Formats: sequence, structure tokens, C-alpha cells
Amino acid sequence: MPTTRIDMLVAMRTAQARRHHGARQRRDDEKRRRGAISDWADSTHLNSQFFEAGERCETPDRDLSTNPSREESMAYIKNIWYAAAWSSEIARDLFPRTIANEKIVFYRTELGEIAAIEDRCPHRFVPLHLGKLKGDIVECAYHGLCFDASGACTLNPHGDGKIPRAARVKAYKVVEKHSIAWIWLGDPESADADLIADFSVLTDPRFQTVSSYLHVAANYQLISDNLLDLSHGQYIHPMFANAEGPPRFEPEKDPTGHEVWARFSRPNQYPNKYFQMLGYPKDQRGDHRNYMRWSAPSLLLLDVGMTGVGRPVEEGLSIPTSHLLTPETDTTTHYFWAMSRDFRQADAALSDELLRVGVAVFDDEDKPVIEAQQRMIETSELMSLNPVLLQTDGPAVRARRVIEAGLKAELAN
Ligand code: FES
Ligand SMILES: [Fe+2]
Repeated sequence: MPTTRIDMLVAMRTAQARRHHGARQRRDDEKRRRGAISDWADSTHLNSQFFEAGERCETPDRDLSTNPSREESMAYIKNIWYAAAWSSEIARDLFPRTIANEKIVFYRTELGEIAAIEDRCPHRFVPLHLGKLKGDIVECAYHGLCFDASGACTLNPHGDGKIPRAARVKAYKVVEKHSIAWIWLGDPESADADLIADFSVLTDPRFQTVSSYLHVAANYQLISDNLLDLSHGQYIHPMFANAEGPPRFEPEKDPTGHEVWARFSRPNQYPNKYFQMLGYPKDQRGDHRNYMRWSAPSLLLLDVGMTGVGRPVEEGLSIPTSHLLTPETDTTTHYFWAMSRDFRQADAALSDELLRVGVAVFDDEDKPVIEAQQRMIETSELMSLNPVLLQTDGPAVRARRVIEAGLKAELAN
């Protein structure tokens, strides 16, 4: 036991050193698994040796399987589709967005297709989005190297004009579907658009949809936990609260596959403020359902509706709500949400009201709690802190297991 102040300091330093050693060990393990990053970094240092004027300086080939701009961090599944943006966000200009720690610049080609390349010039690492889009070519703002949508350097305006073999950036496969630009961070050859989760409700002409984007300073899995456990609605969302208490949770009887379901219901109850706003009669009891579907990496669709007691769901109100969560960094998330309805489609005032409610609920009520949670746990992984688990956490834990299994499978290959 430390007895003096100096002993205490030494003990603290030793504990600190152990923690640092542990952290370094974890970083080293991660590095070994993803050795390409450090190999690439070592090889580029060769290029910094002095060379005579006129002499060719050739950088060894870079491994482009991982965008080297990513910092050491959590691992993310690569061979999977992430929601990168609403289609409407990407136009004929350079649009930067970080996805799973990879810095990427998006733009539309002259044919209207979406291109996505690494947002870091391999010369002096200036972000390419600071440059100019010329036709389908991105010209770096600093010394004018040019890159096409395949990531190849097409022009070196200096010296003999030769293009070093290593002068290329990673290019990503992007597909537009359901009004979303989906990105595949892994091997473009294995990018199959049929693997994109079904969000056809977003473009189904029978539905009117309002949508928005939210930036959250929290890890994407904390938000997924929030959406898979809707019992929180009773406490932080006055609009969704109900006089009769939290909803009933229905555990999945036979969980299989890569989808996770979290079903909450309130049979035979008066409508909450949300359903009253949507037009469900205030004095009429009904069955209220919140059935959340989760697909990896973190794409959620909520079947939310209310119908007369014991009546088929088709008779009542349905307002499927999409929540697409994309990790930006380990502690920040791109959150795309949308509410779709197949009633009062032409009612613009209702659309405005839904947008207002969405912002009030997700931005002003969920986001502060989740961000506070992130600040409390700092950069720790939630499950490593042994959180107390309730029955309603089941789906969130299962979703985390699916992600972990996906990561393990990728690292093993
Ligand atoms: S940093 Fe891009 S051309 Fe020099
Ligand atoms: Fe919420």
C-alpha cells in the first residue's frame, strides 16, 4: 500500500503506464491485423529521402484496400453497405464525408453517377474536396494533381509530367437505391446491390415521406441501442408517453439470421399525443405497435401504427419510420431519418408538423441523452464496462453480436 505522497505518485504512474501499455498492446494487435496501414506508412517514408533534381522518385505501391487517412480506431465491417448520404445531398460539387473513419469525397459525374474517392491527395495529403471538379476529374487545390473517379491520377502538371505509380487514391463503389447513396468500403468486386436492406418505403409512390439528417456526437451502436429499446419513449419523449406506462416488450421467440426485431406494443390503450396528432380519435382505444427491424451494420425500420382493438393493421394508421445510422468516427454518427405515411399524403401542413416532431424527438430529446452517455463512457466500448442488462436490452445485445461476428469473419479472411 502506498504510504507517502511520492509512493502514491509512483503507484499512479505505474497504473497509468500499465493502462498505456494495455492501450498500446490493443493498438498493436489492431495494427497487425490491418498491417497494410503501417506497411504503407513505412513505404511512403522512403519517398521523403532527398533525391537529385531530375531524378525520378518512385513511391512504392500503396495498399488501397483501406483508406490510410483512417486513424487507429475501432474496426468496422468493410464488406457491407453503409448509408453515405441522401441522394439529394450529392451534386456537381465536391462533397466530403467521413465514413467509418475513412475520409471520402463524393461528387456526381457529368452522366449523373455518384463517384466516391479517398479525400486525401497522395502527394502532400491535402483534402481533395478543397480542389476543383473539372468535368469528371478532381484537381488537387495544392499542386494540381488530377484524379478520376477510379482514383487514378490522370495529370501531373509538373516536371516531366510522368505520373508516379503510387499516385492514386482509393475509389469506392456507390449505388443509389431508395433515395440513399450507399457505399461499400471493402472490395468493390464483392459489392452486390441486392444485399442492400429493403427501404423501398422511402420511394414507394403510395407513401409521402419527410426526411432529415442529424449529426450525433456518439458511437453509432449507442444510437442503435436506443432505437432497439423503445421503452425509453415513456421517459424522454412526452409525445410518445402513455398514461398506462411503458409498452409491452415481446421477446423474439426464435431469433435467427442477420435481422434483429424489437417488438413493443400497447394493446387496447388510448392514443398517445403522436397518434392524436396523426388523427387517431382521442377517446377511442386501440392497439398500438412499434416493431423495429434492425439490419447490419445499423439500418433500422420501425413499423409503427395504431388500429382499432383487435382490428387488422391495414385498417389503422401506419407511419413506417427509417433510421439509418452510419459511423462517422468512433464517437460520431451520421443519422438519416425519415417518416413515411400512406394517408393524408397531400397534406403539406402534416408534412411540416412531422418534420417538426422528428426534430423535436430525435434532435432535441434522444440526441442529448445519447451524447451524454458517450461523454460518460468516453471512448470505452459499452459492453466492456459490464452494463446492467434488462430484458428490453435483448435485441440491442443481439445486434451487437451480429456486428461482432461480421467483424470476426472479416478479420479471419
Ligand atoms: S498536395 Fe495535392 S498535388 Fe500536392
Ligand atoms: Fe427516442
